[in-house]
Amino acid sequence: MVADYSEFGFEVPLDRTGLSTKKWEIEQINKNDPSVLCFSTAEMDFRAAPAIQNAINRVAQSGHFGYPHKRDSYFEAIVSHFDRNHGWTIDPTSIYSHVAIYPSMQPFIEELTAPGDEIVFQSPVHHCFEEVIRANGRTPLANPLVVRDGQYVMDLDGLADIVTERTKMLILCNPHNPVGRAWTRDELEALNTFCLGRGIFVLTDEVYFGLVRAGRKYTPFASLSEEAAMNSATLISASKSYNLTGTKHSLVIIDNPEHRKAFEASQKKTNLYFGGCMFGQAATEAALRGGDSWRCALMEYIDGNFVLLRDTLNEALPGITVYDSDATYFAWLDMRGLGVSDEQIIRILDEARIAVTYGKPLGPGGAGHIRFNLATARITLQAGLDRFVTAFEKHLNND
Ligand SMILES: Cc1ncc(COP(=O)(O)O)c(C=O)c1O
Repeated sequence: MVADYSEFGFEVPLDRTGLSTKKWEIEQINKNDPSVLCFSTAEMDFRAAPAIQNAINRVAQSGHFGYPHKRDSYFEAIVSHFDRNHGWTIDPTSIYSHVAIYPSMQPFIEELTAPGDEIVFQSPVHHCFEEVIRANGRTPLANPLVVRDGQYVMDLDGLADIVTERTKMLILCNPHNPVGRAWTRDELEALNTFCLGRGIFVLTDEVYFGLVRAGRKYTPFASLSEEAAMNSATLISASKSYNLTGTKHSLVIIDNPEHRKAFEASQKKTNLYFGGCMFGQAATEAALRGGDSWRCALMEYIDGNFVLLRDTLNEALPGITVYDSDATYFAWLDMRGLGVSDEQIIRILDEARIAVTYGKPLGPGGAGHIRFNLATARITLQAGLDRFVTAFEKHLNND
């Protein structure tokens, strides 16, 4: 598909009048400084695709906001999207919905594991992985990713060393936040073989499925084989790929009848299977049916932002390693070559009035790194990079 991003206005900084978001407004309020530039929280500074805005407007204009029912068109939009874009045949009866990714992890943790059981996460990864495992009374087991030939890969030997008979689940992130890998079929096959062999269930968070850079490929874990589908559940949402994080609607794909029963039992405890948010539901359907051209244009724009960041930092601050990325709108930076500590990085960026995501809270392997959110107008990114480079050059020359 040919992408023309000028059509969608990505290059025009978003008018933030009246907005109140975690990414910008709260960050500036917390720092008591409206001039802070924000490249942290995982959402975009772009208006949603026209197809989504129209769908939400239609719901709003109906003036009636009762419990929504999912029509066949909702399921058709989901099935067709994943078939068309990712070669994944989803059985419509396997599709459940929920309000978001993290709340939909809880039913699987509760139903498929017992208190004290171990759940693997592959760090560095979004901090909520470890948090959700721990908060549900299970034991988080870190299996850090490793860098080989300049690329992050899974460490299955390390995994074999740490698992015990109490290891019941692995939470996968595909594509991976923050390192940006879209795991290959071979990598996923190897993980699948390992988990099947050890009786480890794979809960796969594929919320970044749509944010794949040109020439790269996202492989849904459940599309590997019947066995993989039966030993996993997939959590997806239009939230990240279409900038709908505030509309609270996500999908849970479950092939295994036993796991469906467990999930349904858990939903009964909260009545979450009844109704849902009609705006999130309408937005999801519209995104998956009519958002392809917007998403392709988006990824072309993000690509340009990635190149700008990489080339700027390679030139000005060659001590920083900018990892290549298959997917997501993040750049993942190894800062250790600058000889600065995590505390110094925080101080320097605070003084530079830039908010990024620091790597240390993302678990083992995260220290000394930062994540830069590239989903913004290029002019804003350029302004952030100017501050960033100036601040580190000053530090390296003076301190
Ligand atoms: C890997 C990953 N999963 C899930 C989420 C959050 O999704 P939700 O808001 O739907 O719970 C994030 C947010 O950054 C994320 O990075």
